[in-house]
Amino acid sequence: MADETRNILVTGGAGYIGSHTVLELLNADFQVVVIDNLSNAFRGKGHEKPECILRVEKLANKQVIFIDCDITNKKSLNDIFQKHKFFCVIHFAALKAVGESCTIPLEYYKVNVAGTLNLLEVMREYNLKRIIYSSSATVYGVPKKLPLTEEMETGNCTNPYGKTKFMVEEILKDLCSSDKAWSVISLRYFNPVGAHQSGQIGEDPNGIPNNLMPFIAQVSVGKREFLSVYGKDYETPDGTGVRDYIHILDLASGHVKALIYQKTKNPLGFQAINLGSGNGYSVLEVINAFEKASSKKIPYKIVDRRSGDIASSYSDASLAQKLLDWVAVKNIDDMCADTWNWQQKNPNGYN
Ligand code: NAD
Ligand code: UD1
Repeated sequence: MADETRNILVTGGAGYIGSHTVLELLNADFQVVVIDNLSNAFRGKGHEKPECILRVEKLANKQVIFIDCDITNKKSLNDIFQKHKFFCVIHFAALKAVGESCTIPLEYYKVNVAGTLNLLEVMREYNLKRIIYSSSATVYGVPKKLPLTEEMETGNCTNPYGKTKFMVEEILKDLCSSDKAWSVISLRYFNPVGAHQSGQIGEDPNGIPNNLMPFIAQVSVGKREFLSVYGKDYETPDGTGVRDYIHILDLASGHVKALIYQKTKNPLGFQAINLGSGNGYSVLEVINAFEKASSKKIPYKIVDRRSGDIASSYSDASLAQKLLDWVAVKNIDDMCADTWNWQQKNPNGYN
């Protein structure tokens, strides 16, 4: 008999975190249905599946079912649930650019909040009450204390993107209070970076990268002239911003561990869990590590602070260790080496 606990629906599975997680799921013998509307993923002309999924299939030597579906379209979600039976949904699909969320907030609320409501309603209809949600350290707002632990206050978010992540967590909490059969794990990611060690899949930002690591990667291959370092007057050891970078494969394995936790322990209710390395690195430390990994000089200029940025953010990831038996194993050198390898092999991303 088919083992239905192996069937997983991954929304946004053609994205950066989704594609690496799908690979880890296949490697752990799960069967995966990916839904994605390709708003931030590339599909080659005449291809049925996005390029990253084709590469994931090759790496795993296994197949994925891919469905072009927009989560804001409830009818197409419904059709998928009618056809397939799942053990759990891993929900990545969202818009994620902080700056853009300030210029088109309605789109962000529509996809991230209303899209998630659609998904939850359809799940309820089909009596599937297990979900792993992509949350973010951004829900903590400006940290009052470091490291950040899960019981700290959330919600002081300064931009629409962050607010959508916080709002969905609140919705999920209310849902769990109203119906004790739900099992919700909200994974709060710190700063995911890096790529699969093969250099076949990685982060493929649209246009000018907003985030540090992809920007450095583009400077390293000469696509950008220099990096702007946003501020050197923070209260940190070298004055530049400190973040908890986590290798994308550690993050992906965190999702597999969360699934196994749901399978073996059947935890009910809402549970937030930090996924971070617990270590903070400054911008200058990341530049140094990247220079070491790539043997390239990364030219940079110190400029003004970026509005909305905080000085430091890093996790206490002990709850993930306790509940999921998960720890981040890759260090900043691995993150830089794998980013460099991906960037060199794919200077124009998937296209
Ligand atoms: P991504 O943009 O690479 O992946 C998101 C995927 O969702 C894309 O493939 C996109 O095409 C798809 N998508 C967007 N809108 C959709 C819709 N309406 N219907 C169906 N598919 C849709 O982003 P990512 O970095 O992989 O992030 C995945 C999740 O993790 C997001 O929820 C994001 O908010 C969260 N997160 C990301 C980070 C980060 O730094 N990358 C940090 C914290 C949390
Ligand atoms: C970003 C998102 C945040 C998300 C988090 C996790 C923004 C404004 N915030 O935050 O919502 O939860 O990623 O992935 O996008 N830096 C530079 N020069 C650059 C880019 C960044 O100096 O060109 C600095 C920043 O000031 C910061 C550090 O590098 O100190 C990391 O920046 P970034 O990669 O954008 O991540 P976050 O600011 O943590």
